[in-house]
Parts: sequence; C-alpha cells; structure tokens
Amino acid sequence: MISVVRPAIYTTNTSRCSVHPYDSEADEERFFVVRNGRRYNSTSELYPLPADEEEWDRLADLHKIHKICLGGLYQASTAVDNLLADEEGEEKSILDCGTFEFYDVNQPLDHYYGKFDVVHARSCFLGITNYLHFVDQMAQCLKPGGILLIVESPLQLTVPQSLVENTIQGNGSDIRAIDNLRGLMEWHPQLEIEESFVINIPVGSWAMAETQYLGEASEFIGGLMQENVVRLAQALRIVLLQAGHHPQWVDEWLRSIIQGESLVTRRL
Ligand SMILES: C[S@@+](CC[C@H](N)C(=O)[O-])C[C@H]1O[C@@H](n2cnc3c(N)ncnc32)[C@H](O)[C@@H]1O
Repeated sequence: MISVVRPAIYTTNTSRCSVHPYDSEADEERFFVVRNGRRYNSTSELYPLPADEEEWDRLADLHKIHKICLGGLYQASTAVDNLLADEEGEEKSILDCGTFEFYDVNQPLDHYYGKFDVVHARSCFLGITNYLHFVDQMAQCLKPGGILLIVESPLQLTVPQSLVENTIQGNGSDIRAIDNLRGLMEWHPQLEIEESFVINIPVGSWAMAETQYLGEASEFIGGLMQENVVRLAQALRIVLLQAGHHPQWVDEWLRSIIQGESLVTRRL
C-alpha cells in the first residue's frame, strides 16, 4: 500500500505541532483572503501567486507540460518504482511538498523525519525563504535509501530579466538558489545524486535546437507554455506594482510578454 502525504494544517501554539483536517467551509476565511479580485492563501506573506480556480487551471496546464517534457509524472522513474514496489508488511509513503500551503514548508519538518520513501517538490521556489534549508528538511524526511525528487524552473520572464527576479527576491523568496539546484543537493551529506538534468521547454511557436527532443509536440507545448507564462505574468503584475514599479513600465512589460516579445525558452 502507498500513501501520499501533503504537509497538513499545523498549529504551532505549543512547542510541538498539532494537526487538524482541512474543512473547506470553516477554513476558507481562516486560510484565504481576496485581493484585487484574486484569492490568496493568507498564511504566507511570501508566496506571490493566487490560490484560486484561475491559478489551478494554469497549474493543471503546467502539469500537462511537465508530464510531456519529463516523459512521465516524475523523473528517475525506475528508482522510484523500485522503492514503491510492494514489500510484505511495509507501508510505502510519499511526501509531496508545496501543493497546498496549510503548513509552511519553510518551518522545520521534524514531525516527518525518517518517514518517507519518496519526497517530492515541484515548482515551490517562489515561496521558499532558504532553499538550502528546504532541501535539508526534505532530505531528513527520507527513510534510509529513500529518494528526493525536485523540479524547479527559473522565471526567465523578461528582458531585462533581473527586474522581476530582484523584486521577488527582495520580498524574501530565495529564487536564485534554484540556478544551482545540483550544487544544493551535492552539498547535503545525506544525498547522493542519482540523476540531475536540465530540460528546455519552448515558449511560443518558434523551433529551437534545445527543444527538438519534443518532436511534433514542440508546437503544442510552445503554445500552451506561452499562454501559461502570460497568465503567470498577469498574476505577478500586482507584485511588481506593490514593489513600487511604475504602472506604465509594468503594463509595458506585461504587453511585451503577451505579444511574445520577451519569451525564449524556460528551463526545467
Ligand atoms: C506553482 S504551485 C505548484 C503546485 C504543485 N507542486 C505542482 O507542481 O503542480 C506552488 C505551490 O507551492 C506552494 N508553496 C509555496 N511556498 C510554500 C511554502 N512555504 N509552504 C507550503 N507550500 C508552499 C503554494 O501554495 C503552491 O500551491
């Protein structure tokens, strides 16, 4: 039997954490806030993206894109399948970090140490204050011989790219850390790298040598990804305005993304 765990709702009013199950009606007010017509998770000041139907649609498309580009739901699939194979008397467990934000994964995950065969994190970097600490916490959640799977893609949204990145980094997200994800894994004494690779995802319809691995799917992925990046940029518009960037500049930046002038490829 395999169980999948997502960091649950924890209250830390004592030195130990306690868990309670999510109740969609009662917890709506407690965990969400509506700002500028979008719904946000109110438990994090840091994570800049909304938590509403519109964003979930974007994430569902991104999931499709990741699946095609990775050639499956996750990387290192043989190692993962072997680890999760049935073993008499053993329950297999997966921890999926950064799917909901009811527990802030910037906090210690000590209640989960040593309990998981597979720990997975995908596209969480915008809400992480210290990625090295995050990697360490996830590594500690593994059972001996367990596997940690991380997928992140840098923003690379603009020319000049640094303006948006600097704004998000300035708000406290450790977004530059993922430029050297391999280095972070290599640093950790408990981790041994099984596989580490970069995949280029086309944004827009023009063909590039780096995205030829997709064959005929390249155009489809490029279109879907372009749409996705526009929706991401629309969600980030408010972040740039709040950081004090001039509305005219922000709208010009958004226009250039919508018209595909600033897009190249995204790396996974
Ligand atoms: C771009 S979404 C990706 C969702 C999912 N992992 C996927 O790949 O489809 C990023 C998710 O990470 C979560 N997240 C970001 N920072 C977090 C934090 N510090 N603690 C818990 N969740 C976090 C957000 O709530 C959001 O659901």
